[in-house]
Amino acid sequence: MTRPGPDRGVHTVLTINGTRHELTLDPRTTLLDALRERLDLTGSKKGCDRGQCGACTVLVDGRRVNSCLLLAASAAGSEVTTVEGLADGDRLHPVQQAFLDHDAFQCGYCTPGQICSAVGALAELAEGRPSAVTPDVAAEPRWEAAEIRERMSGNLCRCGAYAHIVPAVMAAMDRSAGGAEPAPPAEPSPGVPAQMDGANR
Ligand code: FES
Ligand code: FES
Repeated sequence: MTRPGPDRGVHTVLTINGTRHELTLDPRTTLLDALRERLDLTGSKKGCDRGQCGACTVLVDGRRVNSCLLLAASAAGSEVTTVEGLADGDRLHPVQQAFLDHDAFQCGYCTPGQICSAVGALAELAEGRPSAVTPDVAAEPRWEAAEIRERMSGNLCRCGAYAHIVPAVMAAMDRSAGGAEPAPPAEPSPGVPAQMDGANR
């Protein structure tokens, strides 16, 4: 629900990770800035602030969006999921776990966006939505690396961690497709790093 506020702000009700928030916002406020600056949800990162890097990716009604390009008021009435909302309590989302298992990050700055994007990409695959590399758009897309690379191509990693990101997403893809479980980590994980819940600001 959105209506004009008394101070020329826009009264906006956002549902983020299942929690309802009432905010009065400058109507130009992006969803990314509302998340980070008003709600202290700093998992979503500001990389380019112009829709080119994917660091700010969140899910809106299950679809991935660049939150730097979406006005917060436009998200009123939708369910927004950020990286902080993916885990089930202490149980990581399968994509988060796969990133840990496959050591799919270095500095971790792009990681929350990569993870949210992967969750959205796997949902697109499960729904049979074609991508630019799907050979036959009338057929079900194949669960293969080419589809992952194409669907994740909007998420840049300045550390160049792609060599591990693709296997991580494929491991989560195998789980989603009912395939083999991913290989266990070589070393026990020393706790959940900040990249998994976006705690690094
Ligand atoms: S910060 Fe949104 S795409 Fe780069
Ligand atoms: S892990 Fe550093 S930017 Fe991707």
